[in-house]
Amino acid sequence: MWNKSTVLLTKLAVLSLVSLLISISGCSRKEEAEPEAQRPRAELAPLPDSLLILAGKQLFHSPALGTANKSCASCHIEGEDLKGAADSYPKFSDLAAKEVTLIEMNNICIEGALKGKPLDPESDAARALAAYIRSLK
Ligand code: HEC
Repeated sequence: MWNKSTVLLTKLAVLSLVSLLISISGCSRKEEAEPEAQRPRAELAPLPDSLLILAGKQLFHSPALGTANKSCASCHIEGEDLKGAADSYPKFSDLAAKEVTLIEMNNICIEGALKGKPLDPESDAARALAAYIRSLK
C-alpha cells in the first residue's frame, strides 16, 4: 500500500510547505527593509513555526517514514502520551544508552518501531517532526 510514490508524495507535501515557509520569510524580509529598526521581529515568528508543525503532524501520521506499515500515531495515539515530553530533552535514553536530543529520540522510534531509515538531524523533515512533538502540550 505504501509504495515509492506515496513516499514521494509525502516528501513533496513537506517540501512544498517548507518552500512556502521560505518564500514567506523571504517576502517579509523585503517588506521590512525600510522600517526594520522600529518593527518588532517576533511578530512574524509564529508563522514559519506553524508551517513546520503542520508538516510534522503529517509525517507523524504517515507510514511512509518506515517499512512496518505503521505511523508514529499507531502507538502514540494523537500524540496524547507525548504531551510535554519535548521539554525533558536532551535526556538519557536507556534504549540508546546515552543522552539524546528529541530529534535523536524520534529517530530511535523511526528505526526501531517503524523499521525505517533515521532522518538526517539537519533535514527539514526531522525539524518538522520535532516541531510537531514540541507543539503537543
Ligand atoms: C511500535 C510503537 C511505536 C511507534 C510506531 C513509535 N513509537 Fe515512539 N515510543 C514507543 C515506546 C514504547 C516509547 C517509550 C520508549 C522508552 O521511553 O523507553 C516511545 C517513546 C517515544 C518518545 C519519547 C517520549 C518521552 O516521554 O520522552 C518520543 C519523542 C517518540 N517515541 C516519538 C515517536 C515518533 C516521532 C514516532 C514516529 C516516527 C514514534 N515515536 C513511533 C513506541 C512507538
